[in-house]
Amino acid sequence: MSLPEGTRIPQHIAVIMDGNGRWASQRGLPRLEGHRAGTENIRAIVSEASRLGVRYLTRYAFSTENWNRPSFEVQGLMQILSDFIDRETQNLHAQQVRLRHIGRLAGLNPLLAHKVEQAVALTQANSGLTLAIAFNYGGRADIVDAVRQIVAAGVDASQIDEQMISSYLSTSGMPDPDMVIRTSGERRLSNFLIWQAAYSEYWFTPIFWPDF
Ligand code: IPE
Ligand code: IPE
Ligand code: MG
Repeated sequence: MSLPEGTRIPQHIAVIMDGNGRWASQRGLPRLEGHRAGTENIRAIVSEASRLGVRYLTRYAFSTENWNRPSFEVQGLMQILSDFIDRETQNLHAQQVRLRHIGRLAGLNPLLAHKVEQAVALTQANSGLTLAIAFNYGGRADIVDAVRQIVAAGVDASQIDEQMISSYLSTSGMPDPDMVIRTSGERRLSNFLIWQAAYSEYWFTPIFWPDF
């Protein structure tokens, strides 16, 4: 597909991948099957975004509020992230994708956190699309953590401005999202990038994430 002249490609697209559970229920499958199916389309989306020249793609995969789900589902989501890293890292690395994690890594099981860190380290010098995975991410927690770090660094109150706060958030160095996409028909941010998406365009679709 060639793009019409004058087309502007968003630099940063952020996606709230929602509707896995409903996708599974509609098919009489367990919710975790919906989450598994939801990771299958990522490969195609990353390739297409790279091809179009998108520089940053952020995926909301697990929110700080998602810990409130039944422990079986939480454990399943942890396993899916672990499997995703095992299965996809080499392929993403070969495509020059840079992996990045946003959110609280420290809240994860140490083995999983280590696996994420290794994948990030392996791909950090790549020159292609940055794929940021928001896992154990919450916009409010991100701001709380930034404020804690600013205070711990002994910064004088008069020095604090918007740019400084942005630089302490887990998205530091990334441009704000130009566009936020949410699947499944819900129209809210659910604590995703609440600071960074202050000026983003929002696009909602009723399609469930595994079908996106
Ligand atoms: C989104 O799908 C994935 C996560 C939040 C982990 P959901 O699990 O929220 O699916 P629905 O909203 O119940 O359909
Ligand atoms: C938002 O979806 C979080 C992710 C997609 C990871 P949820 O399904 O958890 O959000 P709410 O509970 O409907 O707001
Ligand atoms: Mg949901």
